[in-house]
Amino acid sequence: MDANNVRTVGIVGCGLMGSGIVEVVAREGIAAIYLEPTDGLVEAGHARIEASTARAVERGKMPADERAPVLGRISGSTELTALADVDLVIEAATEDPETKLETFRRLDEVTRDDVVLASNTSSIPIATLGAVTGRPDRVIGMHFFNPPPVMALVELTPSLSTSEETLALARGFVERLGKTVVVAKDHAGFIVNRLVIPYLCAAIALLDEGFASREDIDAAMTLGMHHPMGPLRLADFIGLDTVLQIAEVLHAEFRDPRFAPPAGLRRLVDAGHLGKKSGRGFYEYG
Ligand code: 3HC
Repeated sequence: MDANNVRTVGIVGCGLMGSGIVEVVAREGIAAIYLEPTDGLVEAGHARIEASTARAVERGKMPADERAPVLGRISGSTELTALADVDLVIEAATEDPETKLETFRRLDEVTRDDVVLASNTSSIPIATLGAVTGRPDRVIGMHFFNPPPVMALVELTPSLSTSEETLALARGFVERLGKTVVVAKDHAGFIVNRLVIPYLCAAIALLDEGFASREDIDAAMTLGMHHPMGPLRLADFIGLDTVLQIAEVLHAEFRDPRFAPPAGLRRLVDAGHLGKKSGRGFYEYG
């Protein structure tokens, strides 16, 4: 299949990342069908997309008369069989290995044999996901960044079993979405998280030590390095549970202390302070 022939995409999960991916796909004129386990979550996913597209119109990123057709190309379902006729799948479910493996097993059963199954995972080996399907040559990592409508990068990670044709299709599709592709090996963290997780852990360790205040650590990097967010605010934005989970996977893969999650990160997650999404992390959110 050629990337230009992809007419319908199935997206598994419509949370923070999934909803952004659905929006990006539908804005390119491609039909998007997303899955969530319950009707309530299907509605919550749709509300996220409505809010984000409204913001895009408000900020002049989308003509007002394009919003209704974009929303019209999007549908949600609780049934995996809704993906029986899609041309490509992007899985963006919770970063839990068992959930992802089960999802890939079932996707392999319900989708056409020629369909490429991509995963937005940032830490689970693509080889592991491919191995539970009968088509490991058509399984690939397709890692978007938060928020997907704004961030220009997608990391592609072919496993040792992924075919050249699958990589070419994934590259063509991502470029069709107007994003830039970088390709990395199927090693935990790929490029971005391999570099950013030690940085976030180091910033949290500085705070733990009482070396500087949260505001000063963040101001140092926004004003001194021109980053859009300081490391503590960025960790809150990504989700502290997600940062912890990725750090643990990287630490297990490379046994390198730079990836070891600092105690302060664990304590916040233990307390349910997961960052922006829970209303409190390193900062408080209204
Ligand atoms: N569609 C298109 N554009 C949109 C949009 C939408 N739905 N919603 C907002 N925008 C645009 C706005 O128009 C604005 O563009 P402009 O600068 O040209 O006016 C821009 O996006 C920023 O939007 P806002 O003004 O609403 O918000 P902020 O200025 O506060 O920026 C931010 C928010 C984009 C999140 C910025 O703070 C940022 O870039 N932060 C860093 C994000 C980052 O590092 N993400 C990666 C996280 S790591 C990851 O995802 C990997 C995972 O595995 C952990």
